[in-house]
Amino acid sequence: MVQDYRDFLAEVLISEEDLHRRIKEMGEEISKDYLGEDQLLLVCILRGGVMFLTDLMREIRHPHAIEFMAVSSYGVGKRETSGQTRINLDLNTDIRDKNVILVEDIIDSGHTLASVLEMLSLRKPKSLSVCTLLDKAERREVYVPVKYTGFVIPNKFVFGYGLDIDDYYRNLPFVGVVDLNRYKPG
Ligand code: IMP
Ligand code: MG
Repeated sequence: MVQDYRDFLAEVLISEEDLHRRIKEMGEEISKDYLGEDQLLLVCILRGGVMFLTDLMREIRHPHAIEFMAVSSYGVGKRETSGQTRINLDLNTDIRDKNVILVEDIIDSGHTLASVLEMLSLRKPKSLSVCTLLDKAERREVYVPVKYTGFVIPNKFVFGYGLDIDDYYRNLPFVGVVDLNRYKPG
């Protein structure tokens, strides 16, 4: 049985209202920064970035295209990441000479994004920057240049608003903290 999230929700870390307020600001900032720039492409990293992308793109006034990419990082435990990143779904678009913004749900150790950035920069985009909703800054193991950050959060396992626990709970409209003593993997 998949548990009801209320059974293990420790706290709501970021409410739906706060998410939308901040994402609106981020969209305005991006709209300003890319004013007059052509060929803007938002690349969403599946699957966690999906909800953020669809809300963010509605707040960007500039014409832009979207693309999706799926990568997996594998390492010690299911909730840990290592330096190994593989592309499971690649872009369908040539990004050469485009202004690319990578849209991520969360940066933890930084390994995933660092290797995605390395792979994509070889394709010679005009610019390549990172927009993340959440940043667990104190967990960073490798440097990742981040242009837009929604919220810097503490080192706690979070879920909702695109982020999963064992593939579930991405649909929740807020970001919550898991009480790992009460969460029982299905
Ligand atoms: P990194 O390579 O360590 O930066 O890992 C980033 C990826 O780990 C994210 O894209 C998420 O998929 C996942 N992740 C890290 N922390 C959390 C969390 O608290 N909740 C859900 N997923 C997480
Ligand atoms: Mg992710």
